[in-house]
Amino acid sequence: MNKTLLITGGASGIGAETARQAATLGYRIAINYRTRDTQAKKVVADIEARGGKAIALPGDLAREADIVRLFAETETALGPITHLVNSAGTNGRRGRVDEYDAEVLANLFATNVAGLMLCCREAAKRMSTRHGGKGGSIVNVSSMAATLGGRLGSSAYAASKGAVDAFTKGFAREVAAEGIRVNSLRPGMVLTEMTEGRLKDQAFRASIEASIPMGRVGTSAEIARAVLWLLSDESSFITGAMLDASGGGYII
Ligand SMILES: NC(=O)c1ccc[n+]([C@@H]2O[C@H](COP(=O)([O-])OP(=O)(O)OC[C@H]3O[C@@H](n4cnc5c(N)ncnc54)[C@H](OP(=O)(O)O)[C@@H]3O)[C@@H](O)[C@H]2O)c1
Repeated sequence: MNKTLLITGGASGIGAETARQAATLGYRIAINYRTRDTQAKKVVADIEARGGKAIALPGDLAREADIVRLFAETETALGPITHLVNSAGTNGRRGRVDEYDAEVLANLFATNVAGLMLCCREAAKRMSTRHGGKGGSIVNVSSMAATLGGRLGSSAYAASKGAVDAFTKGFAREVAAEGIRVNSLRPGMVLTEMTEGRLKDQAFRASIEASIPMGRVGTSAEIARAVLWLLSDESSFITGAMLDASGGGYII
């Protein structure tokens, strides 16, 4: 079976590493990005240099029209979409509840929650046997923040990832008999462009690592391997699950 994978937020971090590893497993890959044109093209070039097939597609997941176009363009270029990884995400602006800003919250939820759900809608319309599709597999990148409300100052982000987990469970049950598996992967602290600024502060990094049973932050490569396992037929009886990739969770 031809495997066509769309990865949102695929130009950097976990999404980019997932794209690179997926290419070695035979997936044809559409890499969505918002602002990172050069990085997206670099991921495509790396994949093509190793004999893989990939394209880069711009699109803002906070805009429904972009999402609809993204799926249509992927299909036109690569054929029916069989796999989806929703990795795009933002941590908004850190702050306590008394510092919340309505516009920041709206953008956070538009991207992390509504955008991801609309991507799943587009995927379901194509993958579901109910709509003539042949099934498929979806992995939503959530966060360990969903489990405990996040680290202090991250409650809004944590709430958005809690929504991802709840949606993943409900959606998985809706389409389980239609050939689609849907799971969420919850990374703990991982060194990516989202976190590297804060992790450069050695005192901060030490405090984070002290809260992780394995005593270290994770890498994009480790998360990508877990994403790709959940995405693959190796996990064929698993749907609606939350897999923690977090070095043992938080010690709090
Ligand atoms: N790193 C961690 O410690 C960690 C832990 C738990 C969960 N996660 C989750 O893992 C996922 C990947 O994050 P990462 O760590 O790999 O960080 P990252 O390198 O910052 O990747 C996130 C990507 O999402 C894209 N994105 C953000 N808003 C978008 C939008 N509206 N439309 C399209 N793309 C958008 C970003 O592109 P732009 O900058 O161009 O918007 C960026 O390329 C996220 O969902 C994040 O919440 C990360």
